[in-house]
Amino acid sequence: MRRLTLRQFRVFEAVARHLSFSRAAEELHLSQPAVSMQMRGIEVILGMPLTEQLGKKIFLTEAGREVLHASQAITARLDDLQHNLAQLQSVDSGRLNLAVTTTVNAVVTGILARFRGRHPGVSIHLDVSNRESVLNQLATNRIDLAIMGQVPDGLDLEAIRFMDNPLVVIAPPDHPLARRKKVSIDDLATEPFLVREAGSGTRGAMARFFDARGLALRTSMEMSSNEAIKQAVQAGLGLGILSLQTLEQELTLQRLAVLAVEDFPIMRHWYVVHRIDKRLSPVSQAFKTFVLQPVGQPDEAATPHSERLRPERPAP
Ligand code: PGA
Repeated sequence: MRRLTLRQFRVFEAVARHLSFSRAAEELHLSQPAVSMQMRGIEVILGMPLTEQLGKKIFLTEAGREVLHASQAITARLDDLQHNLAQLQSVDSGRLNLAVTTTVNAVVTGILARFRGRHPGVSIHLDVSNRESVLNQLATNRIDLAIMGQVPDGLDLEAIRFMDNPLVVIAPPDHPLARRKKVSIDDLATEPFLVREAGSGTRGAMARFFDARGLALRTSMEMSSNEAIKQAVQAGLGLGILSLQTLEQELTLQRLAVLAVEDFPIMRHWYVVHRIDKRLSPVSQAFKTFVLQPVGQPDEAATPHSERLRPERPAP
């Protein structure tokens, strides 16, 4: 089946608007025979007349009115498309498709609030899940940007470091180890630990830390959220190792204590990550720049404390 072209729709719409071939030709900067030829071409494809001449006047036939209706809908749809594409190009009205790991969410919320303050028209889609899930979303190109801990080598990712992420050992404030000025790693060996689920970056860093010292960790329970771990530690179910950045409230309210364990904190870092070949939209690019800038600097500022890490450094 032959299809009408957009050009044919445009000619038809001009004829329908003016109900005159000559005025349509004038508007389109075509000759009148060219317009007549286009109209005949349309009628051949559709197999019915779209206009009729009664006396000196031209009218649309019923089929002509149907085609006009469809044609106006198509034109409006194309206008919408152009408008939407223009918006995608704008930092102030685009959409940011971001995934962050559970732990860094505490930091990202503040960054997002400041970014929105600067670009209130931006719509933000934020996925919060663990490290494995965020890596998976990068691999399947479902997100523009991620904020997370260190990324593995060989995944075609660009990762730029922008902030420290110290992991500390937490206990209830009345735990005997909380009173000690110094706690050795060996002291921890007999304590039960609450750990995050497999796939969590925090859990991976914790496991690497103890493996490197030839120590087995006694894990009493596995939980898929930092909040659950904090509550379980408060309830005396064991010790935990979490990012200091997730503990602000509990430490201020003295519901949890940080133990003074040797070799702690485990110093990890946060990275802005995207696929190396990703064509970042203006909004994604603006957000990346915003995250990397030192606090209080204009958007264009350089990022002295961040560094390009491609390939990644070995894990701390
Ligand atoms: P997670 O985050 O423990 O919530 O997975 C840490 C990371 O990004 O490595």
